[in-house]
Amino acid sequence: MLCNEVLSFTAETNSMSAPIGIFDSGYGGLTILKELKKQLPDYDYIYLGDNARAPYGTRSFETVYQYTLESVKWFFDQGCSLVILACNTASAKALRNIQQLDLPHIAPEKRVLGVIRPTSEVLGTYSKTHSVGIMATMGTVVSDSYPIELAKFFPTTNVYQQACPMWVPLIENGEYDKPGADYFIKEYLDALFSQSKDIDTILLACTHYPLLAAKIASFLPTGITLVTQGDIVAKSLAEYLQNHPEIDQKCSKNGQLAFYTTDNAQSFEKQASLFFGQKIEAKHTDLA
Ligand code: DGL
Repeated sequence: MLCNEVLSFTAETNSMSAPIGIFDSGYGGLTILKELKKQLPDYDYIYLGDNARAPYGTRSFETVYQYTLESVKWFFDQGCSLVILACNTASAKALRNIQQLDLPHIAPEKRVLGVIRPTSEVLGTYSKTHSVGIMATMGTVVSDSYPIELAKFFPTTNVYQQACPMWVPLIENGEYDKPGADYFIKEYLDALFSQSKDIDTILLACTHYPLLAAKIASFLPTGITLVTQGDIVAKSLAEYLQNHPEIDQKCSKNGQLAFYTTDNAQSFEKQASLFFGQKIEAKHTDLA
């Protein structure tokens, strides 16, 4: 069934309110949007995947910052007052600069939020051994964002990180449920557990990884909790909107969705349903 809520927002939004912008380098953010739509169905959302320049996970700090900033400005051009970076890599490498250096000049009244902070606020509560594993892109791991943020909320929790550079390519190329994926799942899990046998909680700290969750779970010893971010981010956003009525009132609420990609719209539509759970219609944008 085609998602019939996909409408053009131009006619639907007024100068006072606009959809919430959801950004990812590609398809991963759709796993977050799926949960937002479930938990906060009244809001309008506009999704942008920068597929033409994905993956971000292996790119430099400067490049991820520049690409993310360009995308955030595109959302602002669409009228959005609130943008969620539904991408750990962009949250790790671009969010702080955008919030501290760019927003005060380009749009002081608008807000850009990420996924690392809300996840870090609750992750420690899942672990009985006070030992959590973070599986993420190389960019997120190298930024040390998770150890830094988790230390603020759970100072006694030990954090072990493992970069999983093959997982996004496996997912984006449709290999996530094939036997070939097993090798790299096992390899990265072994590398994580070689750092500590006490890990009892693993965070899939890349919004692409929920597609691998079933396979990953099948390789885990019993007693390990596998955490994905959709539910956490949705709950955190609900709380944020409740605590910030001045932002909430700028978010339009017609229950509508729109999808954009910087690459080919037809290819995006084909892949996107795997991540979003239903068919969607997408449009191309060159961010101009
Ligand atoms: N989905 C992105 C994340 O959460 C990573 C994908 C990429 O490498 O572009 O980190």
